[in-house]
Amino acid sequence: TVPGALTGQTVLITAGPTREPIDAVRFIANRSSGRMGFAVAAAAADAGAQVILIAGPTAQPTPPGVTRIDVETATDMHAATLSRAADSDLVIAAAAVADYRVARPADRKVRKADTPPSLELIPNPDIIRDVAEIVDGPFTVGFAAETHEVTDHARDKLTDKGLDMIAANQVGEGRGFEVSENTLEVLWRTGQQTIGPMPKERLGRALITLIGERFHATR
Ligand code: C5P
Repeated sequence: TVPGALTGQTVLITAGPTREPIDAVRFIANRSSGRMGFAVAAAAADAGAQVILIAGPTAQPTPPGVTRIDVETATDMHAATLSRAADSDLVIAAAAVADYRVARPADRKVRKADTPPSLELIPNPDIIRDVAEIVDGPFTVGFAAETHEVTDHARDKLTDKGLDMIAANQVGEGRGFEVSENTLEVLWRTGQQTIGPMPKERLGRALITLIGERFHATR
C-alpha cells in the first residue's frame, strides 16, 4: 500500500450539527452544514478506508462507499459512536456537537404563556473525549473552531481531551461555518502543519493524507 493511505483501516467519522429537543416541535441546533465532515469521509473512503459516518441532520449527500448512520441528538451520536469506537482504527470527530441539552424536553408542543418560559440546560457528554479514554483505542482526531488564538486553544484542547491530532480553523466573519473555502491548522504532540486556504473538498483530502502519515508513524 501507498504510505499514508488508509487501505484496510476502519474509520469512524462524526459530522454535522446535533439537534436538542425543547418540545415536540422545537429544538436547539447550530450552523454546521456537515460539509467538512462529509468531505473528510469521502476522502477517507477514496484513501481505501472502510468508513462509517455518524451524521447529524444535514442536507449533504452520502459519499460513495460510505456507510452512513443518521442521528439527531448528541446523546444518540455519543451512543452510536462509542458502540463502534473500540472496533475502529481511527475516529475523526468533525461534528459540531451541542454542549448542552434541555433537561426535560416536553413531549407535546409548549403553549405560549403570559410569562416567558426558561429552559434548564444540562451538559452533553464529550464524545471524542470518551473515545480518547479507551485503552489501546483508536487514533483520535478532533476539530476546533476558534475565533481567536486558534493555535493556542487548539493545542490546549489536544492535550486536555487526550487526542492524537486536532484540526483547528478560524470561524466568524465569513470564515469556517457556511463557507466553502477554509484553512486548517493541524496539530499533533510533536508538530504542526497548515493546510489551505482551499475548498473543503480538497482540504478533506489533504487532511486525510496528513492523518494517514501520522497514524502510520505512531502505530
Ligand atoms: O470542546 P469543543 O467542542 O471545542 O471541541 C471540539 C471537538 O470535540 C470536535 O472534534 C467535536 O466534534 C468534539 N466534541 C465531541 N463531543 C462534544 C463536544 C465536542 O465529540 N460533546
